[in-house]
Amino acid sequence: MRVALCIAAETARPMIYRPYAQEDFIALYAIEEACFQPPLRFGRGYMRRLVHAANAATWIADDNGRMAGFAIVDWRRDAGVVTAYIQTIEVAADQRRRGVGGELLRCVEQSARAAGAALLWLHVDEENSAAIHLYETHGFCREVREENYYARSRAALVLVKLLPPES
Ligand SMILES: CC(C)(COP(=O)(O)OP(=O)(O)OC[C@H]1O[C@@H](n2cnc3c(N)ncnc32)[C@H](O)[C@@H]1OP(=O)(O)O)[C@@H](O)C(=O)NCCC(=O)NCCS
Repeated sequence: MRVALCIAAETARPMIYRPYAQEDFIALYAIEEACFQPPLRFGRGYMRRLVHAANAATWIADDNGRMAGFAIVDWRRDAGVVTAYIQTIEVAADQRRRGVGGELLRCVEQSARAAGAALLWLHVDEENSAAIHLYETHGFCREVREENYYARSRAALVLVKLLPPES
């Protein structure tokens, strides 16, 4: 047993963060189903549109071939200014508090910067203290509270982060 464990440790690859591929959808949606119950859950069709949108990037946390989490960001240009919006970040329950969410956040921020975004923003359930901590740890600030944003009259916080050009 001890020999087998050593071999496993030597051959184990670290978590990698990579762009979404079409064959990821089933595992990605399984994480969505584990993280959110209806009516808060994204529908399968809506999720497919998000991950295939031209103005979006989906990042996968890949733990030796098993999906540990994912994040989706999209962006739009209005009057010459690009803003990016985090649609979601989700980490499988048994992989949380290991920095996966933080790394996924770094990946989506990188995609937003590459798209020329000056600002990254999102909605988060005001009762989702884990996610709010994650975002605030990574430099997001509370902008406004939106009453009844989510189903069942749940309020959202809008969090924003300015993305000054990197020197
Ligand atoms: C929110 C979520 C993505 C965080 O993922 P994670 O991989 O656990 O995050 P990390 O390990 O990178 O944590 C980074 C920081 O976020 C904060 N944080 C994360 N989970 C937390 C928790 N349960 N309670 C308090 N702070 C928490 C901490 O500041 C943490 O840093 P620390 O571990 O050094 O204290 C994860 O809990 C999740 O998938 N939740 C369900 C889906 C969801 O609600 N997504 C948000 C949609 S807006």
